[in-house]
Amino acid sequence: MNKPEVKMTAPPSQERKIVNVPELFPDLIAKHAHPGRFVHYDEKDSPWVPFGENAAIKHLLFDTRHNIYSNILWMKGPAVVGTHKHRGYVVMMCLEGSVHYLEYDWLATPGCFIYETPGEAHTLVTDHPEGCKLFGWMQGPNEFYDPEGNLVMTADVWWFMDHYESYCREHGIPLNPELYL
Ligand SMILES: [Fe+2]
Repeated sequence: MNKPEVKMTAPPSQERKIVNVPELFPDLIAKHAHPGRFVHYDEKDSPWVPFGENAAIKHLLFDTRHNIYSNILWMKGPAVVGTHKHRGYVVMMCLEGSVHYLEYDWLATPGCFIYETPGEAHTLVTDHPEGCKLFGWMQGPNEFYDPEGNLVMTADVWWFMDHYESYCREHGIPLNPELYL
């Protein structure tokens, strides 16, 4: 009989050993579960796809069921990503450089965590001489506006997928199936 679970200060981690974990529904999991993914930072797993004049995006994941897309945005020097409104949520972490929104008073540096919610509209800026790299996990469409406040572009999972696939097609790069959940 299994021992009852007890409160621990951290999980057991003494042994480098793969443990067979009890599972009530192995057949269902084998039939229906989606495998996890790994995308190496190397260009061969996902290239830097130009995004405007001075930025690039490394696509990491497209989940069409939930309109979720994940990527790293690399702004290569001082730059702006124009005012946009989120219709879903965003999880971001600054990996390199620094970045802020004109609308808020914080500055994100490496390791800083950013969470954005539906309805927020804001303007992304990096003043760092080397720009920034931002990891993002985004759900739902982002609406982009021109300086007069006119809606000019909607970016959702299909826009990001097209951004990736168009570049790969143009450059003869095979699509990486790991990116498609
Ligand atoms: Fe945003």
